[in-house]
Amino acid sequence: MTLRDIHAKYRRGEKLVMVTCYDYASALLLDATDVDMLLVGDSVGNTMLGYETTLPVSLEQIIHHAAAVKRGVQRAFTVVDMPFLSYQTSTEEALRNAGRILKEPGCEAVKLEGGQSMAPTVARLVAVGIPVMGHIGLTPQSVHALGGYRVQGRSEEAACRLMADAKALEEAGAFAVVLELVWPEAASEITASLNVPTIGIGSGPNCSGQVQVFHDLLGIFPERHFRHAKRYAEIGEAIRQAVAKYVEDVRAGRFPEA
Ligand code: KIV
Repeated sequence: MTLRDIHAKYRRGEKLVMVTCYDYASALLLDATDVDMLLVGDSVGNTMLGYETTLPVSLEQIIHHAAAVKRGVQRAFTVVDMPFLSYQTSTEEALRNAGRILKEPGCEAVKLEGGQSMAPTVARLVAVGIPVMGHIGLTPQSVHALGGYRVQGRSEEAACRLMADAKALEEAGAFAVVLELVWPEAASEITASLNVPTIGIGSGPNCSGQVQVFHDLLGIFPERHFRHAKRYAEIGEAIRQAVAKYVEDVRAGRFPEA
């Protein structure tokens, strides 16, 4: 998948499908499906590293995970999140760090959070040939400023601000915009007004595509339930049961066999 393929699908009205991915084994499995894009999300902090938020994730950590993912991918378009403070301090710092993400793991694009205020940074990266995916609505790197993980764009005023953010990202050259926990009516209007795809998560059915977190999709944390996620398997429970069976077999002398 290339950027051209993604935009061609979008122009044909086909829904784009993205899943987060953080390691080599999952990358092999996901790449063998028909998924369009993989996201080495900074949600790696919550899902793989045990942090409460995405804020502690470092550039070195995301590059380490992106490199493992990239070794397992032959087909899907791979986007990597720029971690907190790897792009907000200055445009030049953003350029250097985005460049490392393309040069070291060899991924195809970066994603960064923020709307109008980030547009000059997006434009600078795009100008040197780095594809950028925007991310607005609930931006987890600003969770403390937003007062928690809550739906965005519910009031007329908030929806207008999100529309202006989305337009600014499009004008800056973002190739797509993630809408996270955006009130569905606002997400529909933004999607209809842009000429680049919107990728929704918890933002209703009318976005140009959807992204889900691997662990949520597969029930890897059996006790964690999110309203914006749909579980397609109970892998966490399957792992518990399989390992419990192995433990029983070893203790009972059933494994290994002669
Ligand atoms: O890091 C992540 O998983 C994300 C998605 C929720 C879009 O940014």
